[in-house]
Amino acid sequence: MLVDDHSSPSDQEKNTTTDQEEQPQQPLVIKKIACIGAGYVGGPTMSVIATKCHDIQVIIYDMNQQRIDAWNSAELPIFEPGLEEIVMERRGKNLHFTTDYQQVVDSDVIFLSVNTPTKYYGVGKGRAADLKYVESCARQLRDTIKSGRKIIVEKSTVPTRTSIAVKRILESGESKARFDILSNPEFLAEGTAISDLQNPDRVLIGGEDEESIRALSSVYERWVPKERVITTNLWSSELSKLVANCMLAQRISSMNAISALCEKTGADIQQVSFAVGKDTRIGSKFLQASVGFGGSCFQKDILNLVYLADHYNLPEVAKYFYGIIEINNFQRERFAKKVIHKLFNTVSGKKICVLGFAFKKDTSDTRETSSIFVCKSLLEERAKIHIYDPKVTKKQIMYDMKSIMNDCYDGDFSAKMESSRESELVESNIFVSTDPYEAMSDAHAILVLTEWDEFKQYDYKRVFEGMKKPAYLFDGRNILNRKDLETIGFDVYQIGKQESHMADW
Ligand code: NAD
Ligand code: UGA
Repeated sequence: MLVDDHSSPSDQEKNTTTDQEEQPQQPLVIKKIACIGAGYVGGPTMSVIATKCHDIQVIIYDMNQQRIDAWNSAELPIFEPGLEEIVMERRGKNLHFTTDYQQVVDSDVIFLSVNTPTKYYGVGKGRAADLKYVESCARQLRDTIKSGRKIIVEKSTVPTRTSIAVKRILESGESKARFDILSNPEFLAEGTAISDLQNPDRVLIGGEDEESIRALSSVYERWVPKERVITTNLWSSELSKLVANCMLAQRISSMNAISALCEKTGADIQQVSFAVGKDTRIGSKFLQASVGFGGSCFQKDILNLVYLADHYNLPEVAKYFYGIIEINNFQRERFAKKVIHKLFNTVSGKKICVLGFAFKKDTSDTRETSSIFVCKSLLEERAKIHIYDPKVTKKQIMYDMKSIMNDCYDGDFSAKMESSRESELVESNIFVSTDPYEAMSDAHAILVLTEWDEFKQYDYKRVFEGMKKPAYLFDGRNILNRKDLETIGFDVYQIGKQESHMADW
């Protein structure tokens, strides 16, 4: 953690009032907003603000020149339905992607939307959030903004009390500027980011300074109904973001745990999920059993909460939430073991087709995708894996697989990776196809690992004819019509469903 300070935000305010009283009070008029971090959150969030507030200049700053160049090109660095249209509409008008830091300095509101990955070194390794990027943003702001009044908005997901650390850094230098810190965590999901931003369930703003809260609320209230803009203290806001992700992931892990029980008992996970979700107190969302959740945030944020609980000497709380990750790992391993077992306990030299590498449909993001972990297990058994994903590039897949096989998934050890034995294993056994039929042709088994819609449209009769027999299909997303596939002749496995046809050799 960046700081461990137990005084309240109000105490912190009191400590700084003398300095602030010396500042001339300036009214808060938001004409220019900047965002540090042009990633999956910064890019879409600021683009939506730009479309909704034509009178506000919106600046997206990043230190990564390549990323900024991509945002300024015809091919945006991230794929997100609806994003390209709004970027193309507002870019160059009131939406600007830049590496010019002065644009940040000149803004009235500055969002911090930098990455906060799990630390892979030192104290808290494997659990705590690495706040070095947030901290360096705060230091740079302190050193470059000399006067005026700025609202600093924590958009990144951070451990509770990070805002105090940011405030302390901002106020530690010579700057005469007044900085008000707000926490405004983002709840968008990838693949639906634009519609989530345009129609959010809620916008959460945590802070102490009423005027700053009102100023930021007024930006969102241009398109979000007032009653959906919730305000809390800083720490509740920071913690709510972590808890929301933990509870969403917890629902998936609950259903994934039950899916294993279904397979033993003859219950059907989709029927159970439907029946359980009908209870309005529970609701139907996030109850789909799968090969395991992925994405850059669920695991990271659970680990973050686990670390916080441990830090405050609450081991029971830490253990409770850690169970969500244990079930997720269990589900991934269970799936890979099922494939190996069904293929007569050996996949060595066999062609296995993997459909889907992104962590969910409608995104090209592969961070923490279950596909990486399933492919790793199969590669260790020396399978020949042919991967097809509609949006993920070959370069990304090879990089991810080399990283995981070299045991440096979280670090950047590309030099070592390129020359290692593990990388050679990847090069000679992982094949990336741009044609799904080519990837499936002559395969012993097909594994559906992402729920892309197009996978439901394929001509599986044609696919079956071109495959080795017996032809296996492992549906890790329960998206295909099992009866139809079995009629064609496939041996089908789906998550949380009894293995009626698939004979246990
Ligand atoms: P990302 O890795 O896609 O983007 C972060 C960007 O910040 C990178 O482009 C990086 O170059 C830039 N950056 C880092 N330090 C910088 C600095 N000092 N100056 C300038 N640029 C800097 O990350 P993301 O997925 O957009 O996530 C950002 C934050 O939002 C994280 O805390 C994450 O937990 C949270 N979040 C993510 C999602 C999501 O769907 N990805 C959703 C909600 C919240
Ligand atoms: C998640 C949250 O949904 C967002 O609210 C949050 O802002 C974001 O994390 C974040 O903080 O980064 P995201 O990871 O983009 O969003 O996507 P989700 O739709 O939540 O899916 C996460 C994973 O869970 C995917 O692998 C998905 O396939 C899986 N999933 C989802 C299931 O296995 N079952 C379900 O019922 C739902």
